[in-house]
Amino acid sequence: MKKILPVEELARDSRFVRVQIQDAMLDPRQMKVAERNTGSAKLEPERPAAPDRARQLMHGIFMGELQALEGAGRTTFDFDDEDVPFQLKLDMARQSWDESRHCEISVKLAEHMGTEIGEFSEATFLYEAACAEDALLRLTGVNRALEGLAIDVFNTMKLFGDHSGDPVLAACEDWMLADEVTHVKMGSDWLRRLTENDPERREKALEFQRGWVPRRDRREPDPTRAQVPRDGGLQQRRDRRALRGNGRGSGGGGSSGHRRAARFLAWRASRSRPSSSRSSSTTQA
Ligand SMILES: [Fe+2]
Ligand SMILES: [Fe+2]
Repeated sequence: MKKILPVEELARDSRFVRVQIQDAMLDPRQMKVAERNTGSAKLEPERPAAPDRARQLMHGIFMGELQALEGAGRTTFDFDDEDVPFQLKLDMARQSWDESRHCEISVKLAEHMGTEIGEFSEATFLYEAACAEDALLRLTGVNRALEGLAIDVFNTMKLFGDHSGDPVLAACEDWMLADEVTHVKMGSDWLRRLTENDPERREKALEFQRGWVPRRDRREPDPTRAQVPRDGGLQQRRDRRALRGNGRGSGGGGSSGHRRAARFLAWRASRSRPSSSRSSSTTQA
């Protein structure tokens, strides 16, 4: 089996739609949203766009889980015992098991919210961080930087579950959050242990980590980047969906997305009716 599998060779079936992160960031619609003062970034159930935003976020979490599984699994396999301590590989094996559970949970949660795999796009930057040739860089880039950021995302979804009266969503996010905290700690522990007497290596690893934390100024177009389509690749994605001919992308993919969101809203409303015998502890503050 090949070691250090490049991102282009990740196995995906025809449901998945991959985008480059720079395409998404340079999407002119994103620029317009960034310019507007949209108020709090909190996922508030009473906002009209909240169901769709929650579905998109949940799909993004699923993609992150899948790549985290692939990254941790790869780190277990890519390095020999002479390269890294066996205990580090054991930690990555444990993380792979955690992430595979998270994948299954995320798929079920996405379905629960009316979302199909591939309804939203996949950006592969998490796996790219797990392609570093030094295992320590993978642990700072993935575990400390990206999984550290993911903790905020899990908290957001947990609060959305709490506030919208969805105990299943809140409980699942809380369980996954507990694992993610452990993964971040693994990154910190190995950074400390592997660089105890090597400040230069530690600084290099921290520099790599900083490279995976989004900065506000990265929203600006970078003329040195490869050219991207003026619509941020939107038409390409539509064409690919139409070519797949699986019924989702042609003749009203957007409207079916809205129908799903409407079903999700109706389901949510039915869950929060006062006639229910459920506890009212999740009522919005
Ligand atoms: Fe995870
Ligand atoms: Fe994780």
